[in-house]
Amino acid sequence: MRNIIGQAVSGNDFFERPQIVRKIRRSIRAGNWIYLSAPRRVGKTSIMNHLQENPEDNQQFVYAITQSIDSVDGFYKELAKQVIDSPAFRTMSKVSDTLKKVAGGLLQRINLKVSVPFLEISLDKGEPINFQTDFEKLLEEIDLNGDRLIIMVDEFTETVDNILHKHGNQEARRFLQLFRELTHNRKLTGKVQFLLTGSIGLQPLVKKLDASDLVNQLQYIDIPALTVDEACQLFRQLIKQEGIDIDDETILFIIQKIDWLMPFHVQLLVQEVIDVFESSGNPIDQAKANKAYEQVFHQRNKIYFEQYYERLKKRLEPGAEYQFVHDILNRSTADEPLEKAVVHDLAVKHEITDRYKAIVESLEYDGYLHQTADNTAYRFNSSILKTWWKKYVC
Ligand SMILES: Nc1ncnc2c1ncn2[C@@H]1O[C@H](COP(=O)(O)OP(=O)(O)OP(=O)(O)O)[C@@H](O)[C@H]1O
Ligand SMILES: [Mg+2]
Repeated sequence: MRNIIGQAVSGNDFFERPQIVRKIRRSIRAGNWIYLSAPRRVGKTSIMNHLQENPEDNQQFVYAITQSIDSVDGFYKELAKQVIDSPAFRTMSKVSDTLKKVAGGLLQRINLKVSVPFLEISLDKGEPINFQTDFEKLLEEIDLNGDRLIIMVDEFTETVDNILHKHGNQEARRFLQLFRELTHNRKLTGKVQFLLTGSIGLQPLVKKLDASDLVNQLQYIDIPALTVDEACQLFRQLIKQEGIDIDDETILFIIQKIDWLMPFHVQLLVQEVIDVFESSGNPIDQAKANKAYEQVFHQRNKIYFEQYYERLKKRLEPGAEYQFVHDILNRSTADEPLEKAVVHDLAVKHEITDRYKAIVESLEYDGYLHQTADNTAYRFNSSILKTWWKKYVC
Protein backbone atom coordinates (compact mmCIF):
# COMPACT_ATOMS: atom_id res chain seq x y z
CA MET A 1 0.00 0.00 0.00
CA ARG A 2 1.43 3.33 -1.03
CA ASN A 3 1.08 6.50 1.02
CA ILE A 4 -0.87 8.60 -1.46
CA ILE A 5 -1.43 11.93 0.21
CA GLY A 6 -4.12 14.14 -1.22
CA GLN A 7 -5.39 11.99 -4.09
CA ALA A 8 -8.28 9.58 -3.79
CA VAL A 9 -6.95 6.02 -3.75
CA SER A 10 -7.91 2.94 -5.73
CA GLY A 11 -6.88 -0.70 -6.09
CA ASN A 12 -4.34 -1.99 -3.57
CA ASP A 13 -3.86 1.45 -2.09
CA PHE A 14 -7.36 1.37 -0.65
CA PHE A 15 -7.41 0.54 3.04
CA GLU A 16 -10.38 -1.79 3.50
CA ARG A 17 -13.30 -0.32 5.38
CA PRO A 18 -15.63 -3.32 5.41
CA GLN A 19 -18.25 -1.92 7.74
CA ILE A 20 -19.08 1.18 5.75
CA VAL A 21 -18.69 -0.60 2.41
CA ARG A 22 -21.10 -3.34 3.52
CA LYS A 23 -23.59 -0.72 4.67
CA ILE A 24 -23.53 1.02 1.31
CA ARG A 25 -23.82 -2.27 -0.57
CA ARG A 26 -26.78 -3.34 1.53
CA SER A 27 -28.49 -0.07 0.76
CA ILE A 28 -27.78 -0.38 -2.96
CA ARG A 29 -29.24 -3.90 -2.95
CA ALA A 30 -32.34 -2.54 -1.23
CA GLY A 31 -32.79 -0.21 -4.20
CA ASN A 32 -32.15 3.05 -2.36
CA TRP A 33 -30.89 6.27 -3.84
CA ILE A 34 -28.12 7.19 -1.49
CA TYR A 35 -26.36 10.29 -0.21
CA LEU A 36 -22.96 9.59 1.31
CA SER A 37 -22.45 12.22 3.89
CA ALA A 38 -19.01 13.17 5.19
CA PRO A 39 -16.85 16.25 5.53
CA ARG A 40 -13.87 17.01 3.36
CA ARG A 41 -11.08 14.48 3.01
CA VAL A 42 -12.80 11.63 4.81
CA GLY A 43 -12.47 9.25 1.88
CA LYS A 44 -15.70 9.55 -0.14
CA THR A 45 -14.10 9.42 -3.58
CA SER A 46 -11.85 6.53 -2.53
CA ILE A 47 -14.90 4.54 -1.41
CA MET A 48 -16.61 5.24 -4.73
CA ASN A 49 -13.52 4.02 -6.58
CA HIS A 50 -13.53 0.88 -4.50
CA LEU A 51 -17.21 0.19 -5.21
CA GLN A 52 -16.70 0.70 -8.91
CA GLU A 53 -13.71 -1.64 -9.00
CA ASN A 54 -15.47 -4.32 -6.95
CA PRO A 55 -19.08 -4.47 -8.13
CA GLU A 56 -21.42 -7.10 -6.75
CA ASP A 57 -23.22 -9.37 -9.19
CA ASN A 58 -25.70 -7.60 -11.44
CA GLN A 59 -24.34 -4.15 -10.71
CA GLN A 60 -22.53 -1.81 -13.02
CA PHE A 61 -21.17 1.54 -11.90
CA VAL A 62 -20.67 4.86 -13.63
CA TYR A 63 -18.71 7.68 -11.98
CA ALA A 64 -19.20 11.38 -12.63
CA ILE A 65 -17.78 14.36 -10.80
CA THR A 66 -19.73 17.59 -11.07
CA GLN A 67 -17.70 19.89 -8.83
CA SER A 68 -17.35 22.72 -11.32
CA ILE A 69 -20.76 22.39 -12.95
CA ASP A 70 -23.09 25.29 -12.30
CA SER A 71 -26.20 24.69 -14.39
CA VAL A 72 -29.02 22.18 -14.74
CA ASP A 73 -28.15 21.57 -18.36
CA GLY A 74 -24.44 21.17 -17.61
CA PHE A 75 -25.21 18.60 -14.94
CA TYR A 76 -27.28 16.33 -17.19
CA LYS A 77 -24.89 16.82 -20.08
CA GLU A 78 -22.03 15.52 -17.92
CA LEU A 79 -24.08 12.57 -16.70
CA ALA A 80 -25.07 11.70 -20.28
CA LYS A 81 -21.43 11.85 -21.29
CA GLN A 82 -20.31 9.51 -18.52
CA VAL A 83 -23.13 7.04 -19.08
CA ILE A 84 -22.63 6.86 -22.85
CA ASP A 85 -18.89 6.48 -22.35
CA SER A 86 -19.26 3.68 -19.80
CA PRO A 87 -18.50 0.00 -20.51
CA ALA A 88 -22.01 -0.81 -19.22
CA PHE A 89 -23.57 1.24 -22.01
CA ARG A 90 -21.21 0.37 -24.82
CA THR A 91 -21.57 -3.36 -24.33
CA MET A 92 -25.37 -3.46 -24.23
CA SER A 93 -26.78 -6.21 -26.38
CA LYS A 94 -30.38 -5.06 -26.62
CA VAL A 95 -30.72 -1.61 -28.08
CA SER A 96 -34.10 -0.16 -28.96
CA ASP A 97 -34.58 2.26 -31.84
CA THR A 98 -35.67 4.94 -29.39
CA LEU A 99 -32.46 4.49 -27.43
CA LYS A 100 -30.40 4.77 -30.60
CA LYS A 101 -32.17 7.99 -31.48
CA VAL A 102 -31.89 9.59 -28.05
CA ALA A 103 -28.29 8.49 -27.42
CA GLY A 104 -27.27 9.47 -30.96
CA GLY A 105 -28.74 12.94 -30.43
CA LEU A 106 -26.95 13.32 -27.12
CA LEU A 107 -23.65 12.01 -28.43
CA GLN A 108 -23.69 14.51 -31.22
CA ARG A 109 -23.90 17.39 -28.76
CA ILE A 110 -21.58 16.39 -25.98
CA ASN A 111 -18.30 16.40 -27.86
CA LEU A 112 -17.48 12.90 -26.83
CA LYS A 113 -14.86 11.29 -29.02
CA VAL A 114 -15.92 7.71 -28.52
CA SER A 115 -17.30 5.20 -30.88
CA VAL A 116 -20.30 3.30 -29.66
CA PRO A 117 -20.84 0.29 -31.92
CA PHE A 118 -24.59 0.67 -32.24
CA LEU A 119 -24.73 4.44 -32.58
CA GLU A 120 -24.56 6.42 -35.75
CA ILE A 121 -24.43 10.13 -35.40
CA SER A 122 -27.10 11.76 -37.43
CA LEU A 123 -26.23 15.06 -38.98
CA ASP A 124 -29.77 16.19 -38.55
CA LYS A 125 -29.65 18.73 -35.74
CA GLY A 126 -33.36 18.21 -35.08
CA GLU A 127 -35.01 19.82 -32.08
CA PRO A 128 -32.81 21.86 -29.76
CA ILE A 129 -31.82 19.43 -27.07
CA ASN A 130 -32.88 19.45 -23.47
CA PHE A 131 -30.22 17.46 -21.68
CA GLN A 132 -32.35 16.76 -18.66
CA THR A 133 -35.30 15.22 -20.52
CA ASP A 134 -33.09 13.38 -23.00
CA PHE A 135 -30.92 11.95 -20.25
CA GLU A 136 -34.02 10.72 -18.47
CA LYS A 137 -35.26 9.12 -21.70
CA LEU A 138 -31.84 7.52 -22.17
CA LEU A 139 -32.05 5.94 -18.72
CA GLU A 140 -35.59 4.74 -19.36
CA GLU A 141 -34.48 2.97 -22.52
CA ILE A 142 -31.32 1.40 -21.16
CA ASP A 143 -31.51 -2.38 -20.91
CA LEU A 144 -28.63 -4.04 -19.07
CA ASN A 145 -30.08 -7.54 -19.16
CA GLY A 146 -31.27 -7.31 -15.59
CA ASP A 147 -28.17 -5.56 -14.24
CA ARG A 148 -28.55 -2.33 -12.33
CA LEU A 149 -26.77 0.81 -13.30
CA ILE A 150 -25.50 2.74 -10.31
CA ILE A 151 -24.60 6.28 -11.22
CA MET A 152 -22.23 7.81 -8.69
CA VAL A 153 -22.16 11.59 -8.62
CA ASP A 154 -19.24 12.98 -6.69
CA GLU A 155 -19.54 16.58 -5.44
CA PHE A 156 -23.28 16.73 -6.15
CA THR A 157 -23.73 19.24 -3.33
CA GLU A 158 -21.15 21.57 -4.84
CA THR A 159 -23.26 21.63 -7.99
CA VAL A 160 -26.31 22.72 -5.99
CA ASP A 161 -24.18 25.37 -4.28
CA ASN A 162 -22.70 26.55 -7.59
CA ILE A 163 -26.17 26.87 -9.14
CA LEU A 164 -27.34 28.79 -6.10
CA HIS A 165 -24.45 31.24 -6.36
CA LYS A 166 -24.63 31.68 -10.11
CA HIS A 167 -28.37 31.60 -10.78
CA GLY A 168 -30.03 32.11 -7.42
CA ASN A 169 -32.34 30.36 -5.05
CA GLN A 170 -35.11 29.56 -7.49
CA GLU A 171 -32.86 27.80 -9.98
CA ALA A 172 -31.18 25.75 -7.25
CA ARG A 173 -34.62 24.63 -6.11
CA ARG A 174 -35.57 23.79 -9.69
CA PHE A 175 -32.42 21.67 -9.97
CA LEU A 176 -33.38 19.71 -6.84
CA GLN A 177 -36.98 19.44 -8.02
CA LEU A 178 -35.93 17.93 -11.35
CA PHE A 179 -33.63 15.51 -9.61
CA ARG A 180 -36.44 14.50 -7.29
CA GLU A 181 -38.65 13.77 -10.29
CA LEU A 182 -35.95 11.49 -11.65
CA THR A 183 -35.92 9.52 -8.40
CA HIS A 184 -39.67 9.08 -8.74
CA ASN A 185 -39.60 7.85 -12.33
CA ARG A 186 -41.03 4.33 -12.06
CA LYS A 187 -39.49 3.24 -15.33
CA LEU A 188 -36.12 3.45 -13.60
CA THR A 189 -37.07 1.30 -10.62
CA GLY A 190 -34.85 -1.75 -10.27
CA LYS A 191 -32.71 -0.53 -13.15
CA VAL A 192 -31.03 2.74 -12.27
CA GLN A 193 -29.93 4.10 -8.91
CA PHE A 194 -27.85 7.07 -7.83
CA LEU A 195 -25.17 7.31 -5.19
CA LEU A 196 -24.45 10.95 -4.45
CA THR A 197 -21.92 12.68 -2.31
CA GLY A 198 -20.45 16.07 -1.60
CA SER A 199 -18.03 17.65 0.80
CA ILE A 200 -20.35 20.35 1.95
CA GLY A 201 -23.33 19.27 3.96
CA LEU A 202 -26.46 18.80 1.86
CA GLN A 203 -28.76 19.29 4.84
CA PRO A 204 -27.67 22.83 5.83
CA LEU A 205 -27.69 23.81 2.18
CA VAL A 206 -31.23 22.62 1.48
CA LYS A 207 -32.38 24.18 4.73
CA LYS A 208 -31.05 27.50 3.49
CA LEU A 209 -32.99 26.92 0.24
CA ASP A 210 -36.07 25.91 2.15
CA ALA A 211 -35.96 22.72 0.12
CA SER A 212 -35.48 19.92 2.64
CA ASP A 213 -38.59 18.20 1.24
CA LEU A 214 -36.88 17.91 -2.16
CA VAL A 215 -34.16 15.60 -0.90
CA ASN A 216 -36.02 13.51 1.67
CA GLN A 217 -36.24 10.59 -0.76
CA LEU A 218 -32.50 9.94 -0.37
CA GLN A 219 -31.05 7.53 2.13
CA TYR A 220 -28.28 9.23 4.12
CA ILE A 221 -25.25 7.21 5.06
CA ASP A 222 -22.55 8.78 7.19
CA ILE A 223 -18.94 7.83 6.62
CA PRO A 224 -17.41 7.63 10.06
CA ALA A 225 -13.81 8.26 11.00
CA LEU A 226 -11.60 5.20 11.44
CA THR A 227 -11.62 3.42 14.77
CA VAL A 228 -8.38 3.52 16.80
CA ASP A 229 -7.76 -0.07 15.81
CA GLU A 230 -8.26 0.62 12.11
CA ALA A 231 -6.05 3.70 12.24
CA CYS A 232 -3.25 1.67 13.86
CA GLN A 233 -3.62 -1.01 11.17
CA LEU A 234 -3.52 1.61 8.42
CA PHE A 235 -0.41 3.10 10.01
CA ARG A 236 1.27 -0.33 10.03
CA GLN A 237 0.34 -1.03 6.42
CA LEU A 238 1.68 2.33 5.26
CA ILE A 239 5.09 1.89 6.90
CA LYS A 240 5.41 -1.78 5.96
CA GLN A 241 7.97 -1.29 3.20
CA GLU A 242 10.08 1.21 5.14
CA GLY A 243 11.91 -0.98 7.67
CA ILE A 244 10.78 1.20 10.55
CA ASP A 245 11.03 -0.22 14.03
CA ILE A 246 8.13 1.12 16.09
CA ASP A 247 6.18 -0.75 18.75
CA ASP A 248 2.38 -0.95 19.02
CA GLU A 249 2.32 1.24 22.09
CA THR A 250 4.08 4.09 20.31
CA ILE A 251 1.76 3.75 17.31
CA LEU A 252 -1.23 3.93 19.65
CA PHE A 253 0.28 6.94 21.40
CA ILE A 254 0.77 8.88 18.19
CA ILE A 255 -2.54 7.81 16.65
CA GLN A 256 -4.41 9.00 19.71
CA LYS A 257 -2.86 12.42 19.33
CA ILE A 258 -4.81 12.87 16.09
CA ASP A 259 -8.14 12.21 17.80
CA TRP A 260 -10.25 12.50 14.64
CA LEU A 261 -9.06 9.48 12.77
CA MET A 262 -9.29 10.23 9.10
CA PRO A 263 -7.10 8.23 6.71
CA PHE A 264 -5.77 11.55 5.42
CA HIS A 265 -4.41 12.57 8.81
CA VAL A 266 -2.87 9.14 9.36
CA GLN A 267 -1.15 9.53 5.98
CA LEU A 268 0.29 12.92 6.97
CA LEU A 269 1.58 11.47 10.19
CA VAL A 270 3.16 8.50 8.42
CA GLN A 271 4.90 10.85 6.01
CA GLU A 272 6.51 12.66 8.93
CA VAL A 273 7.38 9.45 10.82
CA ILE A 274 9.23 8.29 7.70
CA ASP A 275 10.98 11.66 7.56
CA VAL A 276 12.10 11.40 11.20
CA PHE A 277 13.18 7.81 10.62
CA GLU A 278 15.28 8.89 7.65
CA SER A 279 17.07 11.55 9.62
CA SER A 280 17.47 9.73 12.94
CA GLY A 281 17.03 6.01 12.31
CA ASN A 282 15.44 3.26 14.39
CA PRO A 283 13.77 2.76 16.75
CA ILE A 284 10.96 5.30 16.61
CA ASP A 285 10.20 5.94 20.27
CA GLN A 286 7.67 8.34 21.78
CA ALA A 287 10.01 11.34 21.58
CA LYS A 288 10.62 10.78 17.89
CA ALA A 289 6.92 10.09 17.34
CA ASN A 290 6.16 13.41 18.99
CA LYS A 291 8.64 15.14 16.74
CA ALA A 292 6.89 13.59 13.72
CA TYR A 293 3.54 14.85 14.99
CA GLU A 294 4.95 18.39 15.34
CA GLN A 295 6.33 18.20 11.81
CA VAL A 296 2.81 17.69 10.44
CA PHE A 297 2.40 21.46 10.92
CA HIS A 298 5.44 22.30 8.90
CA GLN A 299 5.04 24.95 6.19
CA ARG A 300 5.38 22.31 3.50
CA ASN A 301 2.12 20.68 4.58
CA LYS A 302 0.24 23.96 4.49
CA ILE A 303 -1.25 23.20 1.09
CA TYR A 304 -3.15 20.24 2.49
CA PHE A 305 -4.88 22.36 5.11
CA GLU A 306 -5.50 25.32 2.90
CA GLN A 307 -7.98 23.19 0.98
CA TYR A 308 -10.25 23.23 4.02
CA TYR A 309 -9.86 26.93 4.51
CA GLU A 310 -10.43 27.78 0.85
CA ARG A 311 -13.74 25.95 0.96
CA LEU A 312 -14.76 27.92 4.01
CA LYS A 313 -13.82 31.24 2.44
CA LYS A 314 -15.69 30.40 -0.74
CA ARG A 315 -18.91 29.58 1.01
CA LEU A 316 -19.16 32.30 3.63
CA GLU A 317 -20.44 35.74 2.89
CA PRO A 318 -17.67 38.26 3.41
CA GLY A 319 -18.25 40.52 6.39
CA ALA A 320 -20.32 39.42 9.36
CA GLU A 321 -20.58 35.69 8.55
CA TYR A 322 -16.91 35.37 7.85
CA GLN A 323 -15.93 37.28 11.02
CA PHE A 324 -18.35 35.24 13.10
CA VAL A 325 -16.86 31.94 11.91
CA HIS A 326 -13.35 33.23 12.54
CA ASP A 327 -14.32 34.25 16.06
CA ILE A 328 -15.89 30.87 16.74
CA LEU A 329 -13.00 28.83 15.42
CA ASN A 330 -10.42 31.06 17.11
CA ARG A 331 -12.13 30.63 20.45
CA SER A 332 -12.55 26.88 19.91
CA THR A 333 -8.78 26.51 19.88
CA ALA A 334 -8.79 27.14 23.65
CA ASP A 335 -8.53 24.12 25.94
CA GLU A 336 -12.04 24.59 27.28
CA PRO A 337 -14.98 23.81 24.97
CA LEU A 338 -16.81 26.80 23.52
CA GLU A 339 -20.12 27.28 25.35
CA LYS A 340 -23.25 27.63 23.21
CA ALA A 341 -24.16 30.77 25.16
CA VAL A 342 -20.89 32.34 23.98
CA VAL A 343 -21.69 31.35 20.40
CA HIS A 344 -25.03 33.10 20.74
CA ASP A 345 -23.35 36.23 22.14
CA LEU A 346 -21.00 36.25 19.17
CA ALA A 347 -23.97 35.99 16.82
CA VAL A 348 -25.51 39.02 18.54
CA LYS A 349 -22.22 40.90 18.25
CA HIS A 350 -22.02 40.20 14.51
CA GLU A 351 -25.76 40.80 14.03
CA ILE A 352 -26.52 37.41 12.51
CA THR A 353 -28.82 35.92 15.12
CA ASP A 354 -31.30 34.97 12.38
CA ARG A 355 -28.90 32.61 10.65
CA TYR A 356 -26.05 31.77 12.97
CA LYS A 357 -27.41 28.31 13.84
CA ALA A 358 -27.26 27.20 10.21
CA ILE A 359 -23.69 28.52 9.97
CA VAL A 360 -22.58 26.63 13.07
CA GLU A 361 -24.35 23.54 11.77
CA SER A 362 -22.41 23.76 8.54
CA LEU A 363 -19.17 23.96 10.55
CA GLU A 364 -20.22 20.68 12.11
CA TYR A 365 -20.95 19.16 8.69
CA ASP A 366 -17.65 20.45 7.37
CA GLY A 367 -15.82 18.53 10.07
CA TYR A 368 -14.51 21.50 12.07
CA LEU A 369 -16.59 21.22 15.20
CA HIS A 370 -18.67 18.78 17.15
CA GLN A 371 -20.94 19.19 20.14
CA THR A 372 -19.82 17.99 23.54
CA ALA A 373 -21.64 14.97 25.00
CA ASP A 374 -23.96 17.16 27.09
CA ASN A 375 -24.79 19.32 24.02
CA THR A 376 -23.87 22.55 25.73
CA ALA A 377 -20.66 23.43 23.92
CA TYR A 378 -18.49 22.90 20.84
CA ARG A 379 -15.03 21.47 20.36
CA PHE A 380 -12.69 21.17 17.41
CA ASN A 381 -13.08 17.72 15.84
CA SER A 382 -9.47 17.22 15.14
CA SER A 383 -6.43 18.22 17.11
CA ILE A 384 -4.58 18.45 13.81
CA LEU A 385 -7.05 20.93 12.34
CA LYS A 386 -7.13 22.83 15.60
CA THR A 387 -3.35 23.22 15.81
CA TRP A 388 -3.19 24.17 12.16
CA TRP A 389 -5.89 26.83 12.64
CA LYS A 390 -4.10 28.21 15.69
CA LYS A 391 -0.77 28.33 13.93
CA TYR A 392 -1.72 29.69 10.53
CA VAL A 393 -5.15 31.33 10.66
CA CYS A 394 -5.88 32.60 14.17
N1 LIG B 1 -9.72 3.87 2.44
C1 LIG B 1 -8.63 4.60 2.25
N2 LIG B 1 -7.41 4.03 2.13
C2 LIG B 1 -6.30 4.77 1.96
N3 LIG B 1 -6.30 6.11 1.88
C3 LIG B 1 -7.47 6.74 1.98
C4 LIG B 1 -8.70 6.03 2.17
N4 LIG B 1 -9.70 6.91 2.23
C5 LIG B 1 -9.13 8.12 2.10
N5 LIG B 1 -7.80 8.04 1.94
C6 LIG B 1 -6.87 9.17 1.78
O1 LIG B 1 -7.49 10.33 2.34
C7 LIG B 1 -7.40 11.45 1.47
C8 LIG B 1 -8.78 11.88 1.03
O2 LIG B 1 -9.38 10.83 0.28
P1 LIG B 1 -10.55 11.10 -0.75
O3 LIG B 1 -10.11 12.05 -1.80
O4 LIG B 1 -11.10 9.79 -1.16
O5 LIG B 1 -11.57 11.83 0.24
P2 LIG B 1 -12.83 12.74 -0.10
O6 LIG B 1 -13.74 12.61 1.08
O7 LIG B 1 -13.35 12.39 -1.44
O8 LIG B 1 -12.14 14.18 -0.10
P3 LIG B 1 -12.73 15.56 -0.73
O9 LIG B 1 -13.81 15.98 0.19
O10 LIG B 1 -11.57 16.49 -0.70
O11 LIG B 1 -13.22 15.23 -2.11
C9 LIG B 1 -6.48 11.02 0.34
O12 LIG B 1 -5.17 11.40 0.68
C10 LIG B 1 -6.60 9.51 0.31
O13 LIG B 1 -5.41 8.95 -0.12
MG1 LIG C 1 -13.64 13.54 -3.13
